[in-house]
Amino acid sequence: MIEKNLLQSFDERRELFIASDFQKAIAFAVEHWTHTAQRSIQQRGRFAVALSGGSTPKAIYAALAHVKDIDWKHVWLFWSDERAVPPDHPDSNYKMAMDSGFSSLPIPPSQIFRMKTDEQIEAHAREYEDIIRNRLGPHFFDLVMLGVGEDGHTASLFPQTAALSSNQLVIPNYIPHLQSWRMTFTFSCINQSRKPVIYALGSSKKNIVPRVLNAPIHSSWPASSVGTSEHKALWILDSFSADNLN
Ligand code: 6PG
Repeated sequence: MIEKNLLQSFDERRELFIASDFQKAIAFAVEHWTHTAQRSIQQRGRFAVALSGGSTPKAIYAALAHVKDIDWKHVWLFWSDERAVPPDHPDSNYKMAMDSGFSSLPIPPSQIFRMKTDEQIEAHAREYEDIIRNRLGPHFFDLVMLGVGEDGHTASLFPQTAALSSNQLVIPNYIPHLQSWRMTFTFSCINQSRKPVIYALGSSKKNIVPRVLNAPIHSSWPASSVGTSEHKALWILDSFSADNLN
């Protein structure tokens, strides 16, 4: 059971957990994920989670692979963003999650929904949105895993890109400075979901974390738009990434 008093309220749409170091943050993240999965399965018969890329989630996936007290056959896996590469490419977020631990878990393959970005990205984004609307409940996801980049991006919602203002749930987004396409959840999808969680650990995040948290909701830092008063975003930090927070 996650004790409420471990979390600090930041404002009416964000709460924080600040661990003393990386390992303790990962341990908390795994405990939170496990507890959310157990409660969702108990209450709604299923745990629908969107995974992300990034270095912190990778460590979480490796630890989750050893968790025995989740009924894995009721877990549904989605992704919050994906690079435009085939599923066996080293940059694939799907491959990273499966290789880091999920491939060893007894999740039915029919409940694993990778974003198909290797071809026809527009058509596949429509199809992904249809799956979310038709097969999940009105709040879509029980947990959406997200990171934050040093430029303030989250999922593949990069500053000044078209997807920031979309009302669709899933969209292809061209990232000019990377000269590449990504498929990404929009804020509409993230903020209608029950629990968006942003994992931001280590000293490389210590400048962006206070910028995003202290910015107005629709600032030029995309991650500042995550979280609503109904679906509060949880930020999981460590003492290094939280160093500049007052
Ligand atoms: C991706 C991500 C991206 C990531 C951030 C933070 O596919 O790259 O989904 O949004 O979460 O860039 O990444 P780190 O945790 O590695 O800093």
